[in-house]
Amino acid sequence: MTALPEPGIPTAGPAETTLGGHVLGQLRRLGAVVGLSETDTALYGQVLLDSLAGAARRPLSLPPASPSFLSDDHSPVEFSLACTPDSVPALRVLVEPGWAHGDMGDSARAGLDAIRAMAVRWSFPTDQLDALEDLFFPAGAEGPLALWYALDLRAGKAPGVKVYLNPSAAGPEHAARTVEEALRRLGYGKAFAELPPAAGYPFLALDLGAWASPRTKVYVKHARMSADDACALGRSSGSAADIRYFFHAVAGSLPPFDQGLDGTARLLRRPALTCHSFTGGASEPSGFTLHIPVRDYVRDDEEALARATAVLTRFGMDPTALRRSLHALTRRRLDDGAGLIAYLALVYERNRPPRITAYLSSEAYAVRPPQEQYPRLDLGLHDALRVS
Ligand code: TRP
Repeated sequence: MTALPEPGIPTAGPAETTLGGHVLGQLRRLGAVVGLSETDTALYGQVLLDSLAGAARRPLSLPPASPSFLSDDHSPVEFSLACTPDSVPALRVLVEPGWAHGDMGDSARAGLDAIRAMAVRWSFPTDQLDALEDLFFPAGAEGPLALWYALDLRAGKAPGVKVYLNPSAAGPEHAARTVEEALRRLGYGKAFAELPPAAGYPFLALDLGAWASPRTKVYVKHARMSADDACALGRSSGSAADIRYFFHAVAGSLPPFDQGLDGTARLLRRPALTCHSFTGGASEPSGFTLHIPVRDYVRDDEEALARATAVLTRFGMDPTALRRSLHALTRRRLDDGAGLIAYLALVYERNRPPRITAYLSSEAYAVRPPQEQYPRLDLGLHDALRVS
């Protein structure tokens, strides 16, 4: 029996590339880069497709199903590579299961269904998520997201599952209160006071499933961040020298149009985010991450890769897997667009060496053209970094 198409979801003809086909190909090639078996990637690919339901069969010739905030071109999928000094990078995939639904209530339901299906499949409890439903899924919820999930892909094992929720679901004016109340319900009654001043709270995230020490994470937006600001924010987690190096290496030499009135180099384009994680009921954060949207501060991805290579090398990590991953994602030239590397992040977790994470776009729908206001990467360096 052939399955009937779901109402309202266009299905591609046999020769057309679908969204699902596009991201599955990327997942398979990325899996090979980080040494996952074909069996593992096939299983994870199926979970990804199941969670997108009919939207996975949407032909790429149609525009994105909704103007997802997950990525610049509204693809509902983003990959990331978490690099550590002495091991193969971990591959993760971030997904908006409710992508096909413009309405945040419908999107939330699709998201919750996807998480519950995973909870059954991998036998993990969802009580933390259940305890927050009224806060994050109110009637008439606002965007720009209802629920995203990420899978930490692990060879031969159940993945780590992370759920991302929108503190502004009841309106941005209630975001701080929502974060505070969510932390309280999760057993972190004093944690909110430990958070830095925020220009917004884009996400609250929960680790569900197989984690040694599951975290609750709060993402904070910072307007006009300088290197000094970044060092102050990360003071209790990392060395100022490392954080300063990371800031300048990723943001680049910030031309005059990226400087504040006081002449200090600041991130005046897309803002940086920090992430503060809490574990085991303690109110002091157990981790700190600095996310810089490198794509807004480079001419193109050749330059973004050069910056990533510099920070990985400085922190003792091999940049080869990142370079290969970019070629697993796309066949375009790296200097033909800006955005394949969306963010670079410096991650501190207690008792672990610093990590660098690169967030990698699927570009299912569009490539952002190079930003010509930034100079092209110096040609000598360009050739030295050219990838085969
Ligand atoms: N696209 C959004 C942004 O650029 C959300 C997002 C996707 C994000 N991946 C991310 C934010 C990784 C921080 C880090 O903000």
